[in-house]
Amino acid sequence: MIQKMTINTIKKSKNTTPLVMITAYDALFANLFQESADIILIGDSLNMSFAGHNDTLSATLEQMIYHTNAVCKGAPQTFTVCDMPFGTYTCKTTALRNAVRVFQETPADSVKIEGGSDKADIIKHLVDNGIAVCGHIGLLPQSVRSEGGYLVKGKDKASQAQLLQDAKAVEAAGAFCMVIEGVKADVATHIARTVTIPVIGIGAGNGVDGQVLVFSDMLGLFEAFTPKFVKHYLQGATHIKEALAQYRAEVISRDFPDATHTY
Ligand code: KIV
Repeated sequence: MIQKMTINTIKKSKNTTPLVMITAYDALFANLFQESADIILIGDSLNMSFAGHNDTLSATLEQMIYHTNAVCKGAPQTFTVCDMPFGTYTCKTTALRNAVRVFQETPADSVKIEGGSDKADIIKHLVDNGIAVCGHIGLLPQSVRSEGGYLVKGKDKASQAQLLQDAKAVEAAGAFCMVIEGVKADVATHIARTVTIPVIGIGAGNGVDGQVLVFSDMLGLFEAFTPKFVKHYLQGATHIKEALAQYRAEVISRDFPDATHTY
């Protein structure tokens, strides 16, 4: 079992061993992941992979609280990050009220907020009031409708300068780490080398301070499409379908339950 991390050990991990972050939405999977994950993210991606929506925007705070409690039950010794869903941190007052709800209604260790320079004052306000914040810069899934798609960032000089400014602003605001998503690898590497807090990448190459993947992508459970940055460590969908097909066949043939599975 990995020793439970804190915001201090996460910060100290900079320039040592890369951090391993994975999403989880329930106790069952969180319990399985705790042996190998430094950090579990209760991502609002649950709105897509768990609830079947096209994007993350309709996830609610109540849902995030429910799933965070489930994850913390399954992996009580793992550092957790609860995503603040879309619309719950539109200003300092709203953000603090909602982040306090996460801290009072769950054992989450921190919250995650999407945005850079534009969210720095909100991050600072939460940190000043005792909330540990993980930033999230680059491709921001909660901006998919306003930006017209999931757009890789850092392709031109202006975007690169904006990313660097965002990373510095998130760091200066007091975040203990940040996720960087969908960013050209050389740009993400430069950012990770510039700021002093860990930068955890997804679709941002291997020059950063850790990696995060959505667990259903990583386990090959999601078949519709596979983004370039996703590696399947298991052909989960294939295995599950084969198991279900075998169960179906054995129920129909009355081979299940056999004597060993009967009272
Ligand atoms: O919601 C989520 O799972 C995330 C990851 C993509 C980093 O924010």
